[in-house]
Amino acid sequence: MNTQEIMDMDQKFVMQTYGRQKLALSHGKGAEVWDVEGNSYLDCFAGVAVNNLGHAHPKVTLAICHQAQRMIHCSNIYYTQEQAELAQLLTQISPHDKVFLANSGAEANEGAIKLARKYTGKGEIIATDNSFHGRTLATVTATGQEKYKTPFQPLPDGFKHVPYGEISALAQAITENTAAIILEPIQGEGGVIMPPEGYLKDVENLCRQKDVLLILDEVQTGFGRTGEMFASQHEGIQPDITTVAKAMGGGYPIAALMANTRIAEAFNPGDHGSTFGGNPLGCAAAKAAIEVLLDENLVSKSKEMGNYLQKKLEELKSKYSFIQEIRGCGLLIGIELTIDCADVVKKACEKGVLVNCTAGKVIRLAPPLIINMTQVDKVVNVLDEVFAEMS
Ligand SMILES: Cc1ncc(COP(=O)(O)O)c(C=O)c1O
Repeated sequence: MNTQEIMDMDQKFVMQTYGRQKLALSHGKGAEVWDVEGNSYLDCFAGVAVNNLGHAHPKVTLAICHQAQRMIHCSNIYYTQEQAELAQLLTQISPHDKVFLANSGAEANEGAIKLARKYTGKGEIIATDNSFHGRTLATVTATGQEKYKTPFQPLPDGFKHVPYGEISALAQAITENTAAIILEPIQGEGGVIMPPEGYLKDVENLCRQKDVLLILDEVQTGFGRTGEMFASQHEGIQPDITTVAKAMGGGYPIAALMANTRIAEAFNPGDHGSTFGGNPLGCAAAKAAIEVLLDENLVSKSKEMGNYLQKKLEELKSKYSFIQEIRGCGLLIGIELTIDCADVVKKACEKGVLVNCTAGKVIRLAPPLIINMTQVDKVVNVLDEVFAEMS
């Protein structure tokens, strides 16, 4: 089928919940993807920070094929070696020692909220304005953006919001009924918003003082995206619960909430569960994906390439007055414009580079961590051409 035929069929049969580009992708390899017409693109968005290893990484593909031949799924009422091994690996790379496996970022956050409430026996969750934590009813309520939740009222009780980056607002919001604070270490969907230096450490200290749990939502920032395995490591903080998803399975949908035994033990059999969570296929994919991340030193490459890309983008900033700010960390970068960025996305796509627009005026770049210098140069050259056409 060609692009138009696919679009027509989609519009007829798929609920129209996505504002899509007029592009039908068929396959990818490394940092490149192809559309059904045979055109290639440099993927600078990596499926919303999912394809950290690029597309079709041979080790992940092999692990999936091998596992699919043995067993795709079995119930969580049985043990599997794949689940136990993945959980062990997650504890080795994170500051936690117990894991619950889920299927999506929203589900991991739901689980984290349930765990915090069960452990503390308290109900209130404090989140931040402009945050994004998912689309289920509890996570959309935690999300600090009205547009995502207004049509879906009534929303669950027990959530309140404070400005991101303001420690005094957080301190004032805590009450004796507060179970946890949920935060993104960098607000991704909200426009790649970096908190002020020291904020996360201050939040950690505040949580300790007030006996409140800190849930760090690393769904977007985890697995090397920001130049550390987890963004919490930039300030050396120790969250009580970390949630991860996106890049975890090398493209395969799998997620986790991770905690320390003291807190994790609040969950007893029957308290939480998922039919598909931690299925052998997902676990095999995630174990392979994390091993590739470690074997190929992709976390330090993310830092190195991220610094290079940010430096090149700063050069563009000095050329175009409508570039307000370049910010980010590792390979999660935002280019804030004073103009609407939808046209930039469209024009960059026509020139063979896929980028994303978030929060209306921010170009979000989140390429695979395997991106090389030549490819980074191509991204910057294409953006340069697009910006030149727009000025
Ligand atoms: C920080 C953060 N948390 C949670 C989610 C929700 O993840 P999912 O779409 O896998 O449910 C996202 C998705 O963009 C995210 O960026």
